[in-house]
Amino acid sequence: MPTRTATTGILSEDKSDERGELIELLKKAYWMEIETVMSYIANSVNPDGVRAQEIVESLQEDVQEELGHAQQFAARIKELYGVVPGSLEFAAEQAYLQPPQHQTDIVHVIKGVIEAETGAIDHYNRIIEFTDGLDFVTQDMVIAILRDEEGHRRLFEGYLREYEAEGLA
Ligand SMILES: [Fe+2]
Ligand SMILES: [Fe+2]
Repeated sequence: MPTRTATTGILSEDKSDERGELIELLKKAYWMEIETVMSYIANSVNPDGVRAQEIVESLQEDVQEELGHAQQFAARIKELYGVVPGSLEFAAEQAYLQPPQHQTDIVHVIKGVIEAETGAIDHYNRIIEFTDGLDFVTQDMVIAILRDEEGHRRLFEGYLREYEAEGLA
């Protein structure tokens, strides 16, 4: 007797097209998280100066969180019968998070982080909409991740406000 396949939800046979599309969205999310890990490691080490301290510590914490997000996206890709891509498929996109010319240029880093978080927020909102009524498990997972990214962005917007208030940004 053949194994019974799921008849409802995203794992069902008749949802295979949507599943394929969703896996592509999840792969993009996975790569975004991986690149963010790289960028945040660099930007949690490179900055110089007293003022950089808060930013450095904040990014150090975020590295672990973004890594956790990447692992969650990878796990979900597999659960949907996809394959987590290999490193050769990676293409960098975060031009705005490259090391600044001067390592005391903290505003550059803050703005880069806000840009990265905003990109993640946009993409994750798209996944949440795509999965609505289709895959509540992925939707639930991405909603939780979205909340983390909104928190990250809010924190760095606060940093930017401080610099703006002092006329430094
Ligand atoms: Fe993330
Ligand atoms: Fe984030």
